[in-house]
Order: sequence, then C-alpha cells, then structure tokens
Amino acid sequence: MKKRKLRSQDWFAIKGRQGFEHRSNMRGLGLPDSTFDGRPIIGICNVWSEFNPCDAGQRDLIGHVKSGVLEAGGIPLEFPAPAIGEPIMRPSPLMFRNLTSMVVEELIRANPIDGVVLLAGCDKTTPALLMGALSCDIPLIVVSSGPKINATFRGETLGSGTHIWQSEQDASAGTMSHADVAASEAAHSRSHGTCMTMGTASTMASIVEAMGLSLEYNSCIPAPDVRRALLARHSGRAIVQGVNDDRRPSTFLTRQSFENAIRTVAAIGGSSNAVIHLQAIAGRAKIPLTLDDWNTLGRDIPCLVDLMPAGRFLMDDFYGAGGLSVVIKRLVDQNLFDAQEMTVLGEPLAARLPSAKCFNNEVIRTFDNPVSPQGGLAVLKGNLAPDGAIIKPAAASTRLLKHKGKAIVFDDIKDYMEAASSETFDVSADDIMIIRNCGLKGYPGMPEVANACVPQKLLKEGVNDIIRISDARMSGTAFGSVILHVSPEAAVGGPLALVKNGDMIDVNVEQGSLNLLVSAEELKEREQALSMSRRDDDEASGYKSLFMNHVLQPDRGADFDFLLGQRGADTPREST
Ligand code: FES
Repeated sequence: MKKRKLRSQDWFAIKGRQGFEHRSNMRGLGLPDSTFDGRPIIGICNVWSEFNPCDAGQRDLIGHVKSGVLEAGGIPLEFPAPAIGEPIMRPSPLMFRNLTSMVVEELIRANPIDGVVLLAGCDKTTPALLMGALSCDIPLIVVSSGPKINATFRGETLGSGTHIWQSEQDASAGTMSHADVAASEAAHSRSHGTCMTMGTASTMASIVEAMGLSLEYNSCIPAPDVRRALLARHSGRAIVQGVNDDRRPSTFLTRQSFENAIRTVAAIGGSSNAVIHLQAIAGRAKIPLTLDDWNTLGRDIPCLVDLMPAGRFLMDDFYGAGGLSVVIKRLVDQNLFDAQEMTVLGEPLAARLPSAKCFNNEVIRTFDNPVSPQGGLAVLKGNLAPDGAIIKPAAASTRLLKHKGKAIVFDDIKDYMEAASSETFDVSADDIMIIRNCGLKGYPGMPEVANACVPQKLLKEGVNDIIRISDARMSGTAFGSVILHVSPEAAVGGPLALVKNGDMIDVNVEQGSLNLLVSAEELKEREQALSMSRRDDDEASGYKSLFMNHVLQPDRGADFDFLLGQRGADTPREST
C-alpha cells in the first residue's frame, strides 16, 4: 500500500522560515529532532476538568496513552476540549455538545494532527468528540473514562442516578429520611468515573465498542482499574498503526455499523439519549439513519444485560461477566449483528468473538431468559408527535403501555414540580402529565426532566408510575412510563403546544401511536390562536443565539444544520 503523506509534514517538513517557526516553537516542549522526521503526530483530545469528576481519571489515562504512542513510534501531544459535566452545567449540558464538537473539529483541522485519541466519558462527551473528529475524517480511537466502582449504602447496592431518583421518590413518600438521603450522597460516588449503571455514558461507550471505534472492554473496565490504564496504553499503540495504515473512519464505518449499534443499545437496555447522539454521529459520518430505523431494527431485540436502571447489576459486574463481546456474540448467533464490520485495528469485530465467554448468565442473559423481551426503544408517532417521540418500554409500567387518559398540562417544569409536591394536587393514576417547553429551543437545551417525579399524593396512595409526555429528555439512569423527545417540540409550534387540560390522549406502544383525541378542526383553530400569540426569543445573543438559530430537532440528532457531514482535514492555508 502506498504510504499516505502525513498531515503533520505540511507543518514540520517545509523549508524556510515557516518550517523553522513551526519546529522551533514545538521544541519549546523539549521535543527531540526525531519529532519532525515523519513520525505520526497523535493528538490526545481530553475533556479533563474539575467541573466534571466523571472524567477526572483522564489526567492519568493521558500518560498511559502517551506511553503507547511513543512505544509505537508516534509523537503524542495532548489538547483539551471543553468539558461537559452532565449534572452540573446549566441550562442543560446538551446545549454544549455541539460547541465541544466544533472545538474538536476545528482544533484537529488547525493543528498538525495525523491521528487522534478521543478521551471521552461523561454522557455528551463521547458524541461531542466523535462528531468533531468524524467531520475531519482522520484516524481515531476512543478511550473512555470508564465507570465508577460499585457502590453500596447500608447494605443496598446503589446505581448512580437510578438511586437518586429512587431516594427522591422515597423521601417524598416519607419512607426515607432526608438525613439518610444526604448520607448516601458520597456513597453514590466512591471513585472518579462515569455512572456505573447502563446510563448514557455506559451506553455511548458500548456503542463505540460495538462500532469498532475502540478496543474491546472499553465500555466496562472500571475507571480506577489498572486494566483501563493498560487499555489506554494499547489504544496509544493502535492509533499509530491506524495512521500508518491510513485507517480513516470513512474507510470502515458503514450503515451496517450503525445498525449494529442500534441493536446493541437494545440488547444492553441502553439509554434513550443514545437516539439523539447516534443520529448526530450518523449525520457527521454521512450515513443515512432515521428514527424509524430504531423501531424496525432495535425495538424487538430482548434486553440481555441485567444492569440498572432496568435491572439489578452494575458495570463492574458486566465486565466480570465477560463484557460487551458476549452480548455481541449472542446477537451474532441470532443473525442480529454483522461481525464482519471492521474496527480501528483493521480487523473485523468477529476477531474478538472466539475468546468471548460468559462468566455469569445472571448478568448477561441468554435469548431464552432475557431481562425483558423488548429491550429497544419504541418510536411513537401520531398527531401529537408527527416527527416522533420515544419510550423505553422496559423501563415503563406494563399497565400504561396501552392507555387512554386525561391531560393535565404544564407549561413549565417548575409548575409541574410545585403541583407534584402538593397534597392537594387534583390528579389520578390514570391522568397523563404534559410537561412542555422543555425542548431544545424551549428550555433551551432539552434538559433531562422528562422523568419528573410522580406526584406526592399518588406516591402516598402507592402509585409509583404515571404517564408523563414531554419534549424533554430523561437521564439514561432513570425509569418510568415516560414518553419523551416529542418532535417537533412545543416551542417551535409542535402539537404538544396545542394540548389543553382535560383533552384525552391515546397511547399505544404496541401500535407505535401517540394521539391527541381532539378533532382536526379544533386543532387547526388552536394552532392559529397560538401562532398569533407566539413571540420569538429575540434576546438571545452569543452562543445561545447560534444554538437557537441552528439546532435541529431531536429526530435529526439535535446537531447544528451547518455542521452535518464531513469537511475533511485539509491543511489550512499557511500564514505568510
Ligand atoms: Fe457523568 Fe453520569 S453524570 S457519566
């Protein structure tokens, strides 16, 4: 194979003043002559920040990646991307995913980088870094931060996120004291690392592994485990080989890779946030993918992984049971996964499977004994969600999967929370909560509030689940009969904005329908009245203005319209 000229040589191999300037400047790091003799320059993109403890381990991982790169003959140079701390950032971290992706893309293109190691972890960071790097289409490999170690509190196993919702609910119902809730806080986070449930971070790391964009076990080795350091080191070696072989994502990522990812999300009982992120990643890789693909490909795949929030165990248990390759092998055995898809190592995923062995069939179930028969996300469409909404049937109550109920409408999540905490809230277990203006533009940033708590009054009656319909997202660690990502969102005139208190709503997950039982004529009248009263947010400025003017709806991945596709990594013009 003809060796491709390295991008970095456009900086370091040129003669004259500019070459001198580039080399001289980099020598300021103490780099030797050999840095400039045609070795691959490997960027190590990380999101380390003290505002995001999920990714705090990246500082150590960087060193291990560097060792691997050096061992393989490359030159490692780290660069930061904006951190996205899921529980911390306001108004909602999703608002900043595209910002981080833009920074990654532009920094790769602007610098002498031949291949990139993406150190990602907390929810949005994986799609953000991947989206940016995919738009440049240079060789890449993902190293995830890894999940936190398992946690217990007073004898009970705790799952990050999952037990926060549970504690909140128990405190509201009066079955857990506020002092105990406070005492459990530290127990939830016994180490750095991402949520150790099958939340969004673990789901995205699993997607990366299933698409061959990382080494095996990347999704599940706990953050402080020395084997993650080893994985980082091996990834450093692998990226140098990837550059030498010119293994750009466009040479091996296919539509089939994305189909594999959708089926994997179903089999692991993955987060609903995966829909938005995978749609966005596909958009950057120029692979056609629609919301309907989630229904046709993933919906009927059983959930095989018994991890919280849908199940009982945690990520370390998943690793001990054999990890994602066992799941992939079980999907392959059912002809539900194409293991001939290639990986960053230049070999098919099938190469990982002969050694895949399950050590605990309770944690990773067989097809004969799944955690739930339908692990996938169901897409609902109808006059209430013309462009789709999703529900995670495995996390919902069976009695509510086919249900008609009366709407109680909230224009603001704060109003809902206030009503939900009131003993006098006039609500029944059959009512349907409409929580709107929580979408990408409405909030803005589509926060994870769709799984807002069950009203206190109902909790005290022993009702722990009701239908909530929203244009928001929900945490991958959450549970409940929650219909979310309603598109188009209320703030852009979606039908969710037309619902009135007392309207009847028909939910039928089996048929994939979500309908407002109001005549078309009446809805038309409501729409006209609404459009006369709507005012655009003309006060947005700065990044918010960019976001409000360019963000696409969730069915299109919430990417910016001008960022779709690949722009390559052509070397920018030299300064003169
Ligand atoms: Fe960062 Fe869950 S909050 S991974």
